[in-house]
Amino acid sequence: MGYSFTSRDVDYLDSVAGRDALSAVAGFVLTPATMLRDLDTLRRDYGDRTAALVETVRLRRRAAAKLDDAAEWLFTDDALQQATPSLVARHRARRLAGRFVHDVTCSIGAELAALRRECPAVLGGDLDRVRLEMAAHNLADAPNVALVQADALRPCSAGAVVIADPARRAGGRRTHDPDQLQPPLPELLAVYRDRDLVVKCAPGLDFDRFALRRPDAQPLPGRADRTAADGYAGLSWDGEVEVVSLDGAVREACLWSRGLTESGVTRRATVLRSDGSSWSLTDAEPGDLPEREPGTWLVDPDGAVVRAGLVRHYAARYGLWQLDPRIAYLTGDTVPPGVRGFRILDRLDFREKPLRAELHRRDCGPLEILIRGVDVDPDALRRRIKPRGSTPHTVVITRIGRTATAFVCETPRVESAADATDPV
Ligand SMILES: C[S@@+](CC[C@H](N)C(=O)[O-])C[C@H]1O[C@@H](n2cnc3c(N)ncnc32)[C@H](O)[C@@H]1O
Repeated sequence: MGYSFTSRDVDYLDSVAGRDALSAVAGFVLTPATMLRDLDTLRRDYGDRTAALVETVRLRRRAAAKLDDAAEWLFTDDALQQATPSLVARHRARRLAGRFVHDVTCSIGAELAALRRECPAVLGGDLDRVRLEMAAHNLADAPNVALVQADALRPCSAGAVVIADPARRAGGRRTHDPDQLQPPLPELLAVYRDRDLVVKCAPGLDFDRFALRRPDAQPLPGRADRTAADGYAGLSWDGEVEVVSLDGAVREACLWSRGLTESGVTRRATVLRSDGSSWSLTDAEPGDLPEREPGTWLVDPDGAVVRAGLVRHYAARYGLWQLDPRIAYLTGDTVPPGVRGFRILDRLDFREKPLRAELHRRDCGPLEILIRGVDVDPDALRRRIKPRGSTPHTVVITRIGRTATAFVCETPRVESAADATDPV
């Protein structure tokens, strides 16, 4: 939760006296070990302002790992947790370059900070007055950004692309239920159905339940009889769903209305890295694969590719093929740039005793065990195998057809991230 900031706090922190005080407080250590002593000293100088000052300095320190140019920003704890990382916000803003954009849930302005660089005019709205005041401080040097306190469900702009990032907390707990988001996803989609719309959603949102695979496709079987209780009733999305990962971790699933994406694209995986490299892949690319025996390598595609349902498209782009149509591991004779490839040394039906014997014969240790599609506890298995040798190995246990199969592999290599850019 953190400290509960008020408008009075924001006025003070934004004033010359507040800025001077923040510079002074930034010189304190403020770790659990020093906190009592630091607070004692600070209270003598800053009295009841101390909590707001200390919280702001601590949040600024945390923000440095997530947000660019936020060393002087104001936040609440929740707002910082909810803020879109700058690398992801910049990627989204680049897709909207040149457009007038209205961020209807702008909070303290993390998306606005990226949009202001790409777009001629940006409007930010939020219900929360204190967050808007913080956004005004954070974007004080952005002449093309205006802010308004408004309910996202009551449109107050015309012609702009609308961006929404509904809050995912309900009653203090995280939720994936579209109805429980704030504002609720079904209402948001209904209110802006005739506008160019971008909605940032949690990667855990079950978009497969309501997103149509092609602009002209019918809902998939099972969608028509959804009940209202599952939160997906009446929802349908015929635009693009973009799954974005940052440094290998899937961060969000973003909905783009049809006017904002290329024809024929309904799924996109975008892989971002903090070194600035990025690539993406869509379902407009071919996804036809040969059926072949495993090649030299096993390849584990980025989570964004898996989550976006683009494993086949990724395989086709890089000349790989699938071990099994239901399993995300791929195989081939080369490893695409920027991913872990596991060179296959041996392949056996998965039974513990022969696997243990094989690994001991190979002087295995340390041992990494990866599983997909099988019910195996990797830690417990590793303890039973007792890999005490000196040659690192990775064992990938997965399902091919009905057979659980173990691939004994060399220690994987990681390609340099600099190679991981778009091939086009
Ligand atoms: C997840 S945060 C947005 C974070 C923002 N995209 C960023 O990167 O900093 C969601 C915001 O939606 C606001 N909100 C919730 N319901 C709203 C509504 N009906 N209208 C406008 N804003 C709303 C909340 O106050 C909160 O600031």
